[in-house]
Amino acid sequence: MTKKIAVVTGGMGGIGHAICKKLFDADICVVATYSREHEKALAWQTKQLQAGYKFDIAYGDVSDFQSCESMIKKIEQEVGPIDILINNAGITRDASCCKMNKQDWDIVINTDLNSVFYVTHTVLRGMKERGFGRIINISSINGQKGQFGQVNYAAAKAGMHGFTKALALEVANKGVTVNTISPGYVATDMILAIPENVRNQILAGIPIGRFARPDEVAHVVAFLIDEKSSYITGANIAINGGQYMA
Ligand code: CAA
Repeated sequence: MTKKIAVVTGGMGGIGHAICKKLFDADICVVATYSREHEKALAWQTKQLQAGYKFDIAYGDVSDFQSCESMIKKIEQEVGPIDILINNAGITRDASCCKMNKQDWDIVINTDLNSVFYVTHTVLRGMKERGFGRIINISSINGQKGQFGQVNYAAAKAGMHGFTKALALEVANKGVTVNTISPGYVATDMILAIPENVRNQILAGIPIGRFARPDEVAHVVAFLIDEKSSYITGANIAINGGQYMA
C-alpha cells in the first residue's frame, strides 16, 4: 500500500516539528513547509535525517495566496497527492489593542488565519475527488478564552474554528474531515518570548501545573488523522491542562 502524504505548515517550529515526527512514526510521508531561509531549512532537514527522520521540505509563504498555490502544486508534482493537511504555521505580535499597529494586526491575520484558506483551498479539490482527506487546524486556547495583548491572535485563532465548522459541513460526504485542535500554553520558543513575570502568572493558572509538551499536541493530531476517526468532524479538541473548559 502506498504511504499517505501529509503537509505540515510551519513544520520546523516547536509544535510543527513534533507533529512531523509523530506522522513519520505512523508511516506517513511528511512534507514540512517553511517560509524563511532555505539554508536553515536544509540544515534542519539534514539534522532530522541524522536522527532517523526522513522529511521532505517545501518553501511557501503561507500569508500569500500565490505562494501557497505554487507550494502545494510543487509538492503534488514532486511528492504526490496530499491526503493530510496540518495548518500549523502561526505567529504572535502581542500588544494591547491601543498599542497595536495595523502592521501587527495584518501580519497575524494573514499568517494565522488567511493562510488556512489559502493552503486548504489548494488541496481541497484533490481530497474530495479521491474521497479521503484529513484537515487539522492548530488553533489556541486564546482563540477560545481571549488573552490580554492578543486581539489579533485571538481573532485569528477563533476564526480558524469558524472555518473548520463551515468547511466540515461542505466536505462531510466526501470522506474529508476537518477539525481544530486548541492547545493551551506549549513549551516552545513562542512561550519563552513572553516576559518571565507574565509567563509565571500564566503557569500559576494552569491546573496541571506545567506547560504542555509539543508531543502531547502531536498525539491528538495522530488520533484525528487515523482512518478510525472518520466520524469526528467539525470538532474542536482542547488540550490545555485544565486551564480553560469551554
Ligand atoms: N491582564 C490584565 N491587565 C493587564 C495584563 C493582563 N494579563 N497585563 C497587563 N495588564 C495591565 C497592566 O497592569 C497595566 O495596567 P495599568 O495601566 O493600570 O498600570 C496595563 O495593563 C498595561 O498595559 P500595556 O498596554 O502598557 O501593557 P504592556 O505593554 O505592559 O504589556 C503585553 C502588554 C505585551 C501584551 C504583555 O501583557 C504580554 O506579553 N502578555 C502576554 C500575552 C500572552 O499571553 N501571549 C501568549 C503568547 S504564546 C501564544 O500565543 C501561544 C498560544 O497559543 C497559547
